[in-house]
Amino acid sequence: MQWSYIHVPLRYGQGKLGVDQGPAKLNELGMEKLLPTETVKHTIRVLPESEIRENEEHLKRVDGVLHTVTELAEVVHREITANRFPLIVGGDHSMAIGTLAGLAQTGPYGVIWVDAHADLNTGETSPSGNIHGMPLAAAMGMGDVRLTEVGGREPKLSPEHLVYIALRDIDEGEMNEINRLGIKVITVEEVRTRGVDVIMQEALSYLRERVNRFYISFDMDSLDASLVPGTGTPVDGGLTEVEAKAILTEAMKADDLIAVELVELNPSLDRDNMTANLAYRLCETIIKSKENLLLEGETV
Ligand code: ARG
Ligand code: MN
Ligand code: MN
Ligand code: MN
Repeated sequence: MQWSYIHVPLRYGQGKLGVDQGPAKLNELGMEKLLPTETVKHTIRVLPESEIRENEEHLKRVDGVLHTVTELAEVVHREITANRFPLIVGGDHSMAIGTLAGLAQTGPYGVIWVDAHADLNTGETSPSGNIHGMPLAAAMGMGDVRLTEVGGREPKLSPEHLVYIALRDIDEGEMNEINRLGIKVITVEEVRTRGVDVIMQEALSYLRERVNRFYISFDMDSLDASLVPGTGTPVDGGLTEVEAKAILTEAMKADDLIAVELVELNPSLDRDNMTANLAYRLCETIIKSKENLLLEGETV
């Protein structure tokens, strides 16, 4: 197995400066040394600020988001087709519109979305107009056509192929959709009382009854607010570092995992690189879990 390391320095999906620097910060901390030398590297292009024209109240900087996610979808499609394993780092979570669209072009798949937020708003339900709160809605074909049609007309994800972990800050419109669509949710409370092993086995069997591969999207704000000053929308009552690592390790052990994404590291908001160092340690867990499996002789 070959890694594909994809940088997505996107910040237009939300209003705070700095989240575009997440990938560069991880490199500064030594990411490239963690990855095998034969890793294929990509940096997805982002429009310069001076070229952003749209500032629709309900879909802020949509042209900036579209530019990047369209290219990301193509790259993800290509890398999966080439049998490589993408590790995608951001950047704000609107980038997942591209990831989800790129994966969809390679066939059905499941998603484990580790996040304080549901990211299931449309322009109509969003309290902020920020597109980082909308990628799952867009992938399910809900909301503005410019977002739903990235990578083709068909919906990119079906609601029964999604499992949320660590959800705890849900907008009213999102809650209605979660209930209407019957989306599976695992709370932090459940992670804690039942244990990571148990909830991950449950999440994986749920997905495996429906699809034969999955990806994991990890938002830094799934961690407790006290651990992640360097993320744009921190929320109390989140995961510990140990829990997050255990979730990622369980996912990495699965040979039907096809990609990992880590988003919403904002070095400008950080305190003493606290969040950046934590994100780095999570990447280390991601990479080492897989590399160790390979050393133990998993067939590739
Ligand atoms: N639900 C809020 C919104 O729609 C916050 C979304 C935060 N999303 C994220 N990927 N951090 O604006
Ligand atoms: Mn998110
Ligand atoms: Mn979030
Ligand atoms: Mn199905």
